[in-house]
Order: sequence, then structure tokens, then C-alpha cells
Amino acid sequence: MKPASSILIKQVQSKSVLELQKIAKETFFETYASENTKEDMDAYLAKNFNTEHLQRSIINPDSFYYFAMNHQEVIGYLKVNQGSAQTDNKLPDALEIERIYILSKFQRKGVGKLLLKKAVEKAQSFNIKTLWLSVWDKNQKAIYFYKNQGFKAFDNQFYWVGTDKQTDVLMKLELDF
Ligand SMILES: CC(C)(COP(=O)(O)OP(=O)(O)OC[C@H]1O[C@@H](n2cnc3c(N)ncnc32)[C@H](O)[C@@H]1OP(=O)(O)O)[C@@H](O)C(=O)NCCC(=O)NCCS
Repeated sequence: MKPASSILIKQVQSKSVLELQKIAKETFFETYASENTKEDMDAYLAKNFNTEHLQRSIINPDSFYYFAMNHQEVIGYLKVNQGSAQTDNKLPDALEIERIYILSKFQRKGVGKLLLKKAVEKAQSFNIKTLWLSVWDKNQKAIYFYKNQGFKAFDNQFYWVGTDKQTDVLMKLELDF
């Protein structure tokens, strides 16, 4: 499967909150469990991926979730934020990519590029010319992906996973439209 020809990108509605919770927990676990304690992982998952929190953010008018679907299976997701829904206000007029996660068995098949394209389209629809994101400095795979797609580092910040204070790299992409 390359390019990702059978993949459909679909906006997530409230009724799909349990599917969103499943893909969010599974991909977060796959990505970070080997480098974080079970306690820190459990604390993060409980705080950030409980159904009430997810439901609230699905209906937030400034946040948008998308599933990457392979036929009927959810294989990844994207969350973008604008305005006050952004997790940081360093770039108040930008669009934040808060989450972009694909199940490991579907990585390196172009699905990340498709989700990023959706984020670019969303930014264009709001006439927003900058995309930004925050990535753990130990997550080299993701940093390679972002650099390959034209993102450049512009700052650092701390990020908590449970009790573990981690350093994130902030990256941005100026859109040319
Ligand atoms: C990062 C992620 C979203 C990228 O999505 P993807 O579907 O795997 O990436 P794509 O197939 O679209 O890759 C596009 C290009 O980016 C680069 N790239 C992607 N993953 C890479 C990796 N692991 N190492 C080096 N380059 C990589 C390559 O140049 C690739 O093109 P190529 O495969 O033709 O060489 C995905 O790997 C993922 O979900 N990772 C785990 C979750 C995560 O870390 N999310 C980001 C949190 S900030």
C-alpha cells in the first residue's frame, strides 16, 4: 500500500468518541510506552483521553479531529486547533497540529502526509498561513517526518507526561498560498 490510495480522511463527530479514545490511547501507548514508566503513561492517558475531555474537545468550535480510515478501520488521527483552542499562544494567528498519530503497522505509507495535507487545507480555509506543532525532542522519527515536510524548529518548551518533565521542540511551517 504505497501511496496511501485506499485511505479516506474523515472528520470525527461526537458519536465516534469511543473510536477516537481507542485510537488515541493505542497510538500514544505504541509511541511512548517504551520510554516512560507505566505510572506516567497511565496518568497521562487518564487525564488526556478520558471520554469527557475528548467529547468536550470534539465539540469545541476551534478544534477539529480527523480519522484516517483504511476501509472501515480507523488507523490514525489528526487534531488541529485554532485561536484560543491552541495549547500555547506564541503564534496566536496560526493553526496548531496538536496530534498526528498513525498505528505503527501503517506508518511510512504516506498516511502522515495525507493528514498533514488535511491540516494545510484547514489552515487555508481560515486563511491561516502558519502551521505549528510541539514534538518531544526524543521523538526523532516524527522530527524526521516534520523536517521532510518543510517544518523548521523555532523554540523549545517543557511538557509533562505524568511526573516526567520533558523537553519539546516547537516547529513551524509557513504556507505559501
Ligand atoms: C510521524 C508520523 C505521523 C509520520 O507519518 P507516516 O505516515 O509514517 O509518514 P509518511 O509515510 O507520510 O512519511 C513521509 C516522509 O516523511 C519522512 N519520514 C516519515 N517517517 C520517517 C522515519 N521514521 N524516519 C525517517 N524519515 C521519515 C520520509 O521522508 C517519508 O517519505 P518516504 O517514506 O517516501 O521516505 C507517524 O510515523 C506516526 O504516527 N508516528 C508515531 C506517532 C508520533 O510520533 N506522532 C507525532 C507526535 S508529535
